[in-house]
Amino acid sequence: MKILITGNMGYIGPCLVSHFRKSFPDATLIGLDMGYFAACLSNSEILPECRVDIQYFDDVRKIQSVILKDVDAIVHLSAISNDPMGKTFEAVTMDINYRASVELAKMAKAMGVKSFVFASSCSMYGAAEDSARTEASQLNPLTAYARSKVFTERDIKNFAGDGFKVTSLRFSTACGMSPRLRLDLVLNDFVAGAIASKQITILSDGTPWRPLINVKDMARAIEWAISRDTMDGGEFLAVNVGSNEWNYQVKDLAYAVADVIPGVKISINKNAAPDKRSYRVNFDYYKKLAPDHQPKYNLINTIEELRDGLEDMGFNDEKFRDSNYMRLNMLNQLRGKKLLNENLEWA
Ligand SMILES: NC(=O)c1ccc[n+]([C@@H]2O[C@H](COP(=O)([O-])OP(=O)(O)OC[C@H]3O[C@@H](n4cnc5c(N)ncnc54)[C@H](O)[C@@H]3O)[C@@H](O)[C@H]2O)c1
Repeated sequence: MKILITGNMGYIGPCLVSHFRKSFPDATLIGLDMGYFAACLSNSEILPECRVDIQYFDDVRKIQSVILKDVDAIVHLSAISNDPMGKTFEAVTMDINYRASVELAKMAKAMGVKSFVFASSCSMYGAAEDSARTEASQLNPLTAYARSKVFTERDIKNFAGDGFKVTSLRFSTACGMSPRLRLDLVLNDFVAGAIASKQITILSDGTPWRPLINVKDMARAIEWAISRDTMDGGEFLAVNVGSNEWNYQVKDLAYAVADVIPGVKISINKNAAPDKRSYRVNFDYYKKLAPDHQPKYNLINTIEELRDGLEDMGFNDEKFRDSNYMRLNMLNQLRGKKLLNENLEWA
């Protein structure tokens, strides 16, 4: 089997490649990435890209069909991957996350690829505090990033069929260690604050709901999606990926971190404007479809994993929110040095 992973040089990609090396030992793994965050290594023992067979440094907006020759499956991770970046680079977000994704799926089908897995997001539910959202619930994207996921899912659905299986995994917010750790994810931020300064600063009033998932459990979900039978979910499937036990309010995540790491103070911004992005999600369908690929990590062992990983790195940067562990800061730095142009192409 030949598997192309776009966006393999980010946070999830290296964990996914390590996982695929074990779950698909005979597969040829091909990576394709712009390399925006190539230099953002954290606790990596080796360059994670040593684990793929072929690495393309390429723009998914300009991908050539020859790269897809004999490829059986695509895992499409490449994206401008959060709301702050989506706000700063809105047009580019639509280009990369939406238009390029649809073009890629179209080209993949034409080239005979059999399985296309899209990294979507539960953020497409937007404001959904009243009851946990299922796949049949109304979507309510509140940001450019969330809209890009909604539009892509809507359009790639049309290509499914005739032996082309499309799976849109609506992921919970990721957390946990990775060779390219991000600290702009809520739980990772809280553990980093606890380790560096014994302080967790919640930027909101702490009430928003977020479902979470460990990045290693995302890799297991992608493994399932690549090879799932179309009897499970059909030729097009959009499914929430996470678990019902991992729906938390942001303040409860902070309390859990303070339980694991003693002596940590929590400050909640009671004056913060309400964060409308608050959603609870129902994961029953994923449980039914993929009983053998359910999340294995829980909140406590993920916090412990992050604590141990950050301690191993000797992490002590109290100002980490100004650092390149935040994806937006890295892009801004590359822009500031004129290494990237306004379309986020290498200058
Ligand atoms: N991290 C999460 O909480 C989360 C949750 C739900 C869904 N997702 C989705 O999973 C995917 C991966 O997320 P991540 O956390 O690893 O993000 P990331 O930002 O760490 O990685 C994204 C990768 O895509 C690459 N990329 C961006 N534009 C590109 C382009 N034009 N051509 C080629 N490569 C390009 C970047 O260089 C980067 O390596 C994204 O699609 C994201 O939206 C992530």
